[in-house]
Amino acid sequence: TQHPAKVEPLRVCVTGAAGQIAYSLIINIANGTVFGPEQPVILQLLDIAPALEAMKGVEMELYDCALPLLAGIVLTTDPLEAFRDVDYAILLGAMPRRAGMLRKDLLKANVGIFQVQGAAIDAVAKKTVKVVVVGNPANTNALVCSHYAPSIPKANFSALTRLDENRAKSMVAVRAGVAVDQVKNVIIWGNHSNTQYPDVAHAHITRDGARVAVEEAIKDEAYLHGEFIKAVALRGAAIIAARKLSSAMSAAKAVVDHVRDWHFGTRSGEFVSMAVVTDAHAAAAYGIPEDLCFSLPLSIKEDGHYEVVAGLPVSDFARGKLDATVAELEEEKAEAFAHIEYLAAVKK
Ligand code: NAD
Ligand code: LMR
Repeated sequence: TQHPAKVEPLRVCVTGAAGQIAYSLIINIANGTVFGPEQPVILQLLDIAPALEAMKGVEMELYDCALPLLAGIVLTTDPLEAFRDVDYAILLGAMPRRAGMLRKDLLKANVGIFQVQGAAIDAVAKKTVKVVVVGNPANTNALVCSHYAPSIPKANFSALTRLDENRAKSMVAVRAGVAVDQVKNVIIWGNHSNTQYPDVAHAHITRDGARVAVEEAIKDEAYLHGEFIKAVALRGAAIIAARKLSSAMSAAKAVVDHVRDWHFGTRSGEFVSMAVVTDAHAAAAYGIPEDLCFSLPLSIKEDGHYEVVAGLPVSDFARGKLDATVAELEEEKAEAFAHIEYLAAVKK
């Protein structure tokens, strides 16, 4: 391509590339929405053999979009080809849940995928690769992926909770009667599951130029501690009940927001939620055990390094919520690694 030829293309892998989230996401990576209007990208698309034909259709459509920033397309069923030299790896490829299931019911079906892909990322991706896990149960899959990629810093692995954040912000905006971009610093703590804690205690809105705490703007603790939390946590199930398919357009939009903010950084005084592998700092800041993939408020620098926003007061109500989601993540972690051991034993 001739257009912004001076800028080296970013290599971006998307797995599950023939699936529904990918269909809304890939166009936004290739048209500049995620990495900006000056940044060419090479898309490295992975799916499994039965989906290869469908993926070829996606490739045809990408060409037909006539995208000046799209500097190349790799189409493959081989993880070692898909992750080669990538700067970003967006892991959508996994089984979605159906009505009546919990996301953790997908653990046994999906965890092996993230073990294999972690090892492939370790072998062939750039050591600076940033990984975003979307396939459910996303937090535990991301943790597994990080364990099998020991040569990549743990800080480079994340799971998507931005969809929950966007859902929460949108509900606050409707209730407070402001546009959604006037709602800042809503936090999603913990697991992308029913135990997540959507927290507005540190959030504010801007109305008529003035900053107002969300708890002032919506003076209804029963709602904010009850129906609101439930509505955010159960939104994924509500969409499955209505569509008979899990969220895809909104999931793709959340991935766009997550990756864009990780790439460009967050604004001063604002933070976003991503599930990241906890270290001693997270443990010290909020009493979260180390080595869980736990959604936390982060401020992200322009170079992509992030810090956990520390020092936010934790009420007794919040503590109970944090402890519950920690307990669930510990259970999922134990189950995931037990299942991996079981699979290894059966294979022998
Ligand atoms: P989908 O079934 O439409 O697409 C999944 C794709 O992944 C399919 O094309 C399938 O062939 C492919 N795939 C399966 N195994 C693979 C493997 N080993 N390697 C590469 N590709 C593989 O599903 P979808 O609606 O796109 O959802 C994908 C995942 O994202 C599901 O697990 C879903 O539950 C999850 N999800 C997470 C969030 C979140 O907020 N974290 C939001 C929405 C969906
Ligand atoms: C969501 O939150 O919409 C996704 O995790 C899909 C699901 O299974 O709910």
